[in-house]
Amino acid sequence: MSEEYLLELEHIRKEYPGVVALKDVSLRLRRGEVLALIGENGAGKSTLIKTCSGAVIPTSGKIRINGKEFDRMTPQLAAENGIAIIYQEFNNVGELSAAENLFLGRPIRKGIMIDRKAMEEEAAKAFAQLQIKIDPRELVKNLTVGYQQMIEIAKAIQQNAQVLIMDEPSAPLTSNEVENMFKVVELLRKKGVSIIYISHRLEEIFRLSDRIEVLRDGEYIETLITRESTVDQLIKLMVGREMTQKYPERKPCIDKNKVVLELKNVCGNGDENMSLKIHAGEVLGLGGLVGAGRTELAEVIFGAAKKESGQMFLNGKEINPRNPREAIDLGIALVPEDRKRHGALLTNTIKNNINMPIYERISSASVINSRTERSNAEKYMKEMAIKTPSFQQHVKNLSGGNQQKVILGKWMAADSRLIIFDEPTRGIDVGAKYEIYKLINSLVEEGRSVLMISSEMEELMGMSDRIIVLSEHKMTGELEKEYFNADKIMTYASMAADGKKEN
Ligand SMILES: Nc1ncnc2c1ncn2[C@@H]1O[C@H](COP(=O)(O)OP(=O)(O)OP(=O)(O)O)[C@@H](O)[C@H]1O
Ligand SMILES: [Mg+2]
Repeated sequence: MSEEYLLELEHIRKEYPGVVALKDVSLRLRRGEVLALIGENGAGKSTLIKTCSGAVIPTSGKIRINGKEFDRMTPQLAAENGIAIIYQEFNNVGELSAAENLFLGRPIRKGIMIDRKAMEEEAAKAFAQLQIKIDPRELVKNLTVGYQQMIEIAKAIQQNAQVLIMDEPSAPLTSNEVENMFKVVELLRKKGVSIIYISHRLEEIFRLSDRIEVLRDGEYIETLITRESTVDQLIKLMVGREMTQKYPERKPCIDKNKVVLELKNVCGNGDENMSLKIHAGEVLGLGGLVGAGRTELAEVIFGAAKKESGQMFLNGKEINPRNPREAIDLGIALVPEDRKRHGALLTNTIKNNINMPIYERISSASVINSRTERSNAEKYMKEMAIKTPSFQQHVKNLSGGNQQKVILGKWMAADSRLIIFDEPTRGIDVGAKYEIYKLINSLVEEGRSVLMISSEMEELMGMSDRIIVLSEHKMTGELEKEYFNADKIMTYASMAADGKKEN
């Protein structure tokens, strides 16, 4: 046993039927450090940290906390030994208040009665300690994702956690919320809490961590000291090969004579006067801050929200899709941002998910052509490099990024003419990002059109042929590729709709 390490995972192996998720992986967390855990989608990061709470029982290996050895953990043992985890999908109950969530499963009682007032006071103290402003009585469903996450962190602190494990905490947050979360992480580090931080965003890793552990395909690769390592080095360790190019080459393929989608003064879903054209073979980027109305616009085009006025044309014909089904039939697809809520049927298989939009087409007299169904699933699993042994696998068992690929595969199979991507690479690792960019390229090279919403400036500029920027539900700027410039885009994005710049 070593004094230096608070938590040690030794030679952890985890087998699932047909998959070895972890092969002999070890991890050592020092007191008071932030250890980043990185690796591609499906590398085994979530599985590894879940062994610390008993959410995953290792096939073999040991867990040591403060020198005490365990073969397996349980949620209770984890809590008793000061370990708290913020999962990729967190566990709040929306119908309960912030205070009630904080004390979920261990309410403060006065006699046999639950002491609501005491819980609210304790909650207020906990939030104040983290310097966050949450009303303890507010229902959690009314709070933003950022605040919901803060409640999870507050819960960990309440329980006196010495180790806080965070699985992609920044993925669902807006940039302001990310800044707040960073502040809380710094605060905790100062208080002596040790942190394991999982993220695909390398800039966060460099900003927060002391050391970095890299996993690849369920194997331990290396642990580095953050200030002695470089982005290129990390990427190489994660991907297992040199990646010199971030954006794949695209053949020129825009047909300026062929307007696929045209909007004329479209209003609806909060957005006003949206006018734009997308050509065949073009990637039109939609930039702006979170809340600018980009997702809202996508929903109107996809028939998921009502258009109140204005006109939409697809290949010159006026269209008015009243629901997504009609939009899909017209050849429009939407790959949504929140894959858990809209994109994938998690309890269904990969095969069902991929074939979802086309069951009508591959069936005759309600009998599904199962051979086509299978070959479709196989084809897209291979093309998207979805890491799992079989298309019979339930989507909920896939790693976060591989779930995103299933959703993409589904729309590829649907043969749509216009594909709208809402934050296509959120939560996706560098290697898979490149694959998705290649896919977007192949879509437009086939003459399809893409509307891409992205909050990542680099991606927006790297992938788009043209960028339209929204702010406060209005269009504030448009740039052709040769004039792309991050400052300019930010200026448009923070422009008040009346044209004045905000401070
Ligand atoms: N319950 C399960 N049944 C079968 N396979 C599983 C299960 N849970 C995880 N796996 C597999 O184990 C591997 C590791 O998954 P894990 O979720 O740990 O990856 P990850 O590194 O967290 O990826 P991401 O960055 O996408 O979140 C994947 O191949 C995944 O499909
Ligand atoms: Mg994960």
